[in-house]
Amino acid sequence: MVEVDWELLRERAVAAAQLAHCPYSGLQVGSAALCDDGRIVVGCNVENAAYGVGLCAECTMAGQLRLTGGGRFVAVACRSGAGELLMPCGRCRQVLYELGGSSCLVDTPRGVLPMSEVLPDAFGPEDLP
Ligand code: THU
Repeated sequence: MVEVDWELLRERAVAAAQLAHCPYSGLQVGSAALCDDGRIVVGCNVENAAYGVGLCAECTMAGQLRLTGGGRFVAVACRSGAGELLMPCGRCRQVLYELGGSSCLVDTPRGVLPMSEVLPDAFGPEDLP
């Protein structure tokens, strides 16, 4: 069991947000996740002139999880560059669920909650034949 330093995770999310490429929305988004081996991975949103193909912070973080050793997400925080708490969008909840499962903790406006409450009755790998 890895201990979660939420303040550190939030700080890392803000720092990642400040590296965002977001010339279209102007919203810097950063995410930080504690992994099951104790390391922290981060992501930022990377927008595109073809608006619909922009990448959310959680998606670039999912790439970082794989690229830096794999494993599972244990706890996730998302923040704007100004430090405001942001919730993962619906698609990103699904992305996080794939790599963290129902017990992954998420920093929410209602406090820290497991993914099972943030994405209830999720579709997942166990639903595939
Ligand atoms: N965004 C994220 O990075 N993560 C989310 O979960 C929600 C939205 C980004 C996408 C876009 O670059 C900007 O926020 C405004 O929607």
